Amino acid sequence: MSDQIANTPDTSNTASQTLKENQSSDSNSTNNSQPSQNSDSKSNSANNNDNNIDFATPNHTPQLDAFKQVVESRRSVRRFTDTPISDEVLDDCLRLAMLAPNSSNLQPWEFYIIDSATMRQQANKICMNQNAARTAARLIAVVARTDTWHKHAQQILREYPKRPVPKKVKAYYNQAVTIDFLRGPANVLSVAKWGLIQGFRQFKGPIKSPYYDADDVKNWASINASLAAENLMLALRAYGFDSCAMGGFDEPAMKKLLKLSDNHHIVMMIAAGERAEKGIYHEQFRFAQSQFVKRV
Ligand SMILES: Cc1cc2nc3c(=O)[nH]c(=O)nc-3n(C[C@H](O)[C@H](O)[C@H](O)COP(=O)(O)O)c2cc1C
Repeated sequence: MSDQIANTPDTSNTASQTLKENQSSDSNSTNNSQPSQNSDSKSNSANNNDNNIDFATPNHTPQLDAFKQVVESRRSVRRFTDTPISDEVLDDCLRLAMLAPNSSNLQPWEFYIIDSATMRQQANKICMNQNAARTAARLIAVVARTDTWHKHAQQILREYPKRPVPKKVKAYYNQAVTIDFLRGPANVLSVAKWGLIQGFRQFKGPIKSPYYDADDVKNWASINASLAAENLMLALRAYGFDSCAMGGFDEPAMKKLLKLSDNHHIVMMIAAGERAEKGIYHEQFRFAQSQFVKRV
């Protein structure tokens, strides 16, 4: 690994320091914003130590420094070394990607790892031969699925960790989710849905808009897949690797190469590998936070 890279941060000192610093405040804590399962912060703190689990709570943040190091050292890297990313590391990064928050836990994402040499050659070209794609140890298409919501709703009911599945959960996935997504052929049901929602808003109060057309569902699936993509890039960073998200590719051509249908939408390509010297083209900068944060 080149030494310009911040490798997986070792924050054991910081973590134990923070833990010690916070033990006294934990025992005095009356903070209502503790996670609900931790109603007794004092005994929980003791349990955490017994089990050697260092959960972050608002007054005990053992992972904060490590998290900041990962986020702050992630950069878009356009040149990678020849160092491979093992399947084991990539699998774990993908596991972490799929822990991203996602709407109703419907997990409308897929990840295509383009490993075959011939496919990779074509994929690089479709990514317009960007250096990031050409030099990446792994090239991944992050895909949003617009057609898996029903199948996944049923899968949630089959695999739900609590048995019997609570009635509310069943109703949610069998009825609420269906109403939300169902549009019928040529969106024939959407007009009725729209009318019902307007009526509800006027007479009962706020209600979430359902999905009326294909773009709404594509947007929904893309939001979810993009959150997973960010988790993936941060996980790679935590493993000492780097990435470059790429929107600069020919989507129809990539879909053809990967044999994807109209129900698949490639939200971005991710090039991943070990950061090469001069792999970062520019200094990182952002506009002032005050430009974007509105306190209302
Ligand atoms: C959706 C998306 C598409 C992007 N497409 C490309 C791309 O095609 N090629 C590229 O070199 N960088 C691409 N980037 C990287 C951005 O240029 C980069 O994130 C931005 O300049 C900020 O730099 P940083 O990531 O190093 O903080 C993309 C990033 C995102 C999130």
